[in-house]
Amino acid sequence: MGIDCSRIRDDIPELQNSNVVFLDNAASTLKPRQVIEAMSEFAYTTYANVHRGVYKLSMEASKIYEDAHETVAKFIGGDMREVVFVKNTSEAIQLIALTLYWNGYIGEGDEIIITEAEHHSNMLPWVRIARKAKAKVRLLPVDRRGIPRWEDINEYLSERTRVIATNHISNVTGYISPLQEIGKIAEEHDSFFVVDAAQSVPHLPVDFKKLKASFAAFSGHKMLGPTGIGVMWGRHDLLEDMEPPLGAGGTVKRVKLVDGLVSIDWEDSPWKYESGTPPIIEAVGLAKAVEYLSRIGMENVYEYERSLTRDLLEAVSALDFIRIVGPNSSDLRHGIVSFNVEGLPPDVAGLSLSRQGIAVRTGLHCAHILHDKLGFPDGSVRASLYIYNCREDITRLVEALESIYAKHVRGLR
Ligand code: ALA
Repeated sequence: MGIDCSRIRDDIPELQNSNVVFLDNAASTLKPRQVIEAMSEFAYTTYANVHRGVYKLSMEASKIYEDAHETVAKFIGGDMREVVFVKNTSEAIQLIALTLYWNGYIGEGDEIIITEAEHHSNMLPWVRIARKAKAKVRLLPVDRRGIPRWEDINEYLSERTRVIATNHISNVTGYISPLQEIGKIAEEHDSFFVVDAAQSVPHLPVDFKKLKASFAAFSGHKMLGPTGIGVMWGRHDLLEDMEPPLGAGGTVKRVKLVDGLVSIDWEDSPWKYESGTPPIIEAVGLAKAVEYLSRIGMENVYEYERSLTRDLLEAVSALDFIRIVGPNSSDLRHGIVSFNVEGLPPDVAGLSLSRQGIAVRTGLHCAHILHDKLGFPDGSVRASLYIYNCREDITRLVEALESIYAKHVRGLR
């Protein structure tokens, strides 16, 4: 079954209510009415705090909240004990880094490998934890296309390598990392393998266990779900073994005073990592988004976006006033094409596109080092796709780019 983008558009109220060409999906996707309605229905009828009451509403809400873990777990080939709900990818990676540090897996002299292609969510947590722990971050360089030099990884590995952390798909170039191979390297070096899957889980079938990941992270709002919920995925044996760095309500079975000291009996995973009242309404929305995507089928999502990515890259590259960020081959990318318009700063290009009804992201996309390395110190314009984009969106983008270039740079009206 292929994807009928117009049928999906019928489900997206923001696309029904305006003529916008929405190409900022790597930042956040629009929401289908099914997701909005599921959240609103739950808030109208069933909402209560979870895991904190024996009254009917709380029991029902708890069951729905737990089922949402199950739904998400199935989607990524895990079990629900491995799915921890957090705020977003950034928070998930901070929690992973903190958990490893807290449990003594990152200490003085240890090394963490990340790449120059990481966005800040998968860079700053490691840099900061390394500083605190007196450990070292080793940055795997990118080549001139922005592709991390995995072929040079041996120069960066040592017996002190504790963590290899990388994005699955770059939020700037759309480059798809060879996770299968990286997972093997991490396993051979007995290192934790952490995957920033913010730009992959929404777009293709992902099974973290098959990829040999130890931990992974993704956000609900980039996959038709609401803001305020994301997933920290962790292998069950690791989550069970480790102590959570954030202990609060919901994370414990029992706290007692033993010989004048507070003794803590932790909850089982995932609950021991979800401190305080969790994102309950958002979990309902995320589960509905996952059901929506599963009904379409992630293979179909992947295939459809793959051909759309090829068309987008070809169409934009054909404009002689455009400079593309990242590899020229669409086989190496998924869903994302960033570029600059000759003679126009990215923000000016973005504003001009917006006047023509086109929504793109402009700037450094939280990936400053990558932009600097590739010679785009002022950032880029990023067009990113999702299942409700049709080929007409690409045509409108290209027409708008031609018109703003003619008007602003060549001075034609
Ligand atoms: N990391 C998100 C982006 O790339 C917010 O736009």
